Amino acid sequence: LTPQDLQGRNILVTAGPTWEPLDPVRLLTNRSSGKMGYALAAAARRRGANVTLVSGPGSIRPPAGVELIPVVTANEMHQAVCQRVDATDIMIMAAAVSDYRPARHEPHKIKKGATDASLALVSNPDILRELGERKKTATCFPLLVGFAAESENHLEEGQRKLTSKNLDLIAINDIGAEDAGFAVDNNRVTLLDRNGAVEELPLLSKEEVAHRILNNILRLT
Ligand code: C5P
Repeated sequence: LTPQDLQGRNILVTAGPTWEPLDPVRLLTNRSSGKMGYALAAAARRRGANVTLVSGPGSIRPPAGVELIPVVTANEMHQAVCQRVDATDIMIMAAAVSDYRPARHEPHKIKKGATDASLALVSNPDILRELGERKKTATCFPLLVGFAAESENHLEEGQRKLTSKNLDLIAINDIGAEDAGFAVDNNRVTLLDRNGAVEELPLLSKEEVAHRILNNILRLT
């Protein structure tokens, strides 16, 4: 029997990649499958939370009992998250948001030879960083949990992101490890919290990782 230790908590999870269209057929995206975020949403729901899942495009079936808000671009995800801050106790940002988008979204398919083969990009909003900034002056604000996928110096990079984005907890993925990370069912993460506590988890299913993250969240609330 799963403990109902998140009963009554409003949890928002972001998951999946974003798609940044260039024209009607082409887009910029990344290798995120959304599995970690969906596992978090399912685990939080099983433990009694009210869960909103703001998800980028993907093919995983959403967990039962979770409110699904489908989005496509980083700008849409930004808007969906910002609208819900006041109604949320815990924000878990597991999405792999595209840092850039094409400067222009062409209404018609770009023809071969029509451009000089270079692509102008502009920055997308960093949703989590913006929330961390707002948290500094707010009297009441959700707990903020972020992810970091790093291929080198993963602990140092994670610590830097925890501090610079003003987070309560960060889950660091070492994507250099072959058996864990993108689009697989297992994950190896290290958890770092705002008080300096470090928990290095072994290779676990994403479902089990989700529960360990939720345990840490409960400890911090
Ligand atoms: O800086 P980096 O992209 O590695 O930070 C990862 C964390 O920030 C993740 O939790 C991710 O969901 C969040 N993020 C975001 N908006 C962005 C980029 C990252 O919310 N534009």
